[in-house]
Amino acid sequence: MNNCSLRNVLRIAFCLVTLMTGGAARVLHAQSKDQPLPKIVQKDGRYGLFVEGAPYLMLGAQVNNSSAWPAMLPKVWPAIEYLHANTVEMPVYWEQFEPEKGQFDYTVLDTLLAQAREHHVHLVLLWFGTWKNGSSHYMPLWLKRTPELAPRMRGANGRAVDSPSPYAAAALKADAAAFTALMGHLKTADGQHTVLMVQVENEPGTWGNVRDYSPAAQKLFEAPVPAELLTALHKQAGTASANWQQVFGDDAEEFFHAWSVARYIEQVAAAGKAVYPLPLYVNAALRNPLNPGRPPSYESGGPTDNVIAIWKAAAPSIDLLAPDIYMSESAPYLKVLELYHRPDNALFVPETGNSPAYSRYFFAALGHQAIGFSPFGMDYTGYSNTPLGATRIAEEGLEPFALNYKLIGPMDREIARLNFEGKLQAVVEEKGKPLESLEFGPWKVLVSYGLGQFGPGENPPGNPEPTGRALVAQLGVDEFLVAGFFCRVDFHVADTASGKQRQFLRVEEGTYEDGKFKFVRIWNGDQTDWGLNFTSAPQVLRVSLGTY
Ligand code: DGJ
Repeated sequence: MNNCSLRNVLRIAFCLVTLMTGGAARVLHAQSKDQPLPKIVQKDGRYGLFVEGAPYLMLGAQVNNSSAWPAMLPKVWPAIEYLHANTVEMPVYWEQFEPEKGQFDYTVLDTLLAQAREHHVHLVLLWFGTWKNGSSHYMPLWLKRTPELAPRMRGANGRAVDSPSPYAAAALKADAAAFTALMGHLKTADGQHTVLMVQVENEPGTWGNVRDYSPAAQKLFEAPVPAELLTALHKQAGTASANWQQVFGDDAEEFFHAWSVARYIEQVAAAGKAVYPLPLYVNAALRNPLNPGRPPSYESGGPTDNVIAIWKAAAPSIDLLAPDIYMSESAPYLKVLELYHRPDNALFVPETGNSPAYSRYFFAALGHQAIGFSPFGMDYTGYSNTPLGATRIAEEGLEPFALNYKLIGPMDREIARLNFEGKLQAVVEEKGKPLESLEFGPWKVLVSYGLGQFGPGENPPGNPEPTGRALVAQLGVDEFLVAGFFCRVDFHVADTASGKQRQFLRVEEGTYEDGKFKFVRIWNGDQTDWGLNFTSAPQVLRVSLGTY
């Protein structure tokens, strides 16, 4: 029996065993061939990730790079459970998936599917193919050993660069075939849609060089800019036979590289999507949006904010371009959210820092109608990419993130729906900005930070560290859903000339169960006289307002 048929026998045996166990009942219960595929839906300029036909919010967590191996999973699931995540981002390694040319090993993928189902979470798979952080380190050994099939780029000095050439036809063909095998397997093995989306490659592009300077690349660089790009960028007719330098001047090399990388990835994505059309995305190593500099001071060729239009034109099979945000200061962080939340792009934060300062940005992402948010390195394998080192990723490090998901988890569908319908606003505290104002038609909502729970609210000082976050959703003209941490939320009559003042008619605290609000108690007296004060307790309020 060869390796492949042995694997098939093992797979069938595994399925039979699964079918005979209690866990399988849940799996079968959830499985329905009639469920529509997960998809990105746009309506009235807003986006939703639709899962089982309704908006879904990914309360995500991405594992460390080398944690999606079966032997590591026992150190992954406890962290995911502690976090209350509903979606886990797991890499699929090309080197593992296609150990021999054309022979695909589905065993690890099947383990991920089975264990995700056991743990009642969805998956986002990350295809570590031709590119991983600008290099090609996940190419299978058989490709590494035939560099003529998968050549590296040449730098401006003619030397090889540790980044794959986007003009390598054989590597592209191999990547597209492997990605197609991956998507084809999901089509047959994942009727219940455990996998919601797939990331094609990882932070593609190149560090240290702006583009490929090989003779083949040079020839393309001196050739006319492709007509479809000129059209997409609304460039004038006179540019029809102009080359990259003539059309784009100082940006020519960077734009050329972005186009080249995106075209390669488009072909990989299109091949996989033709087999199984799940939402696909590409993640970006960012440039600082407030002080971008020029490449190669940042990774060149990936979907940085300045080349989103190029990527959209080059890679129509990619549903969205997603920022990996590792900037702990609020100004650049919020700017990135703004830049990737566009009429032609649904916002998804597939990676972000895991130190406590980042936890509040989950709310900022919601405020920009994100379909998901996912801190990086969320497992107990002992690795941490923060300067504080490995031992930090324990429960105490995860706690600020767990708080968010504990609060939102029970009402995640409700929040996704309200956001898709444009009824939700959410904010986070910024250093030196202790007061925020939100407009909801006849009501103005003030969110203040650093006040005690008792006493008037003038001149809020801000929290010692900017940890505050709040969300407010309008359920009816005078009805609101309010939640948050480390803040005070209060309502005011927007029309100050009316002489009217706000009255709390009823403030109910409750919990969500099966998507329904369950009454716990009424807040009144000290709990409402000074506004609605949120501490570290996950509390959800439904507020009815009147005036006097
Ligand atoms: C961004 C990459 O996309 C991740 O895979 C990982 O390498 C982090 N950087 C750093 O830990």
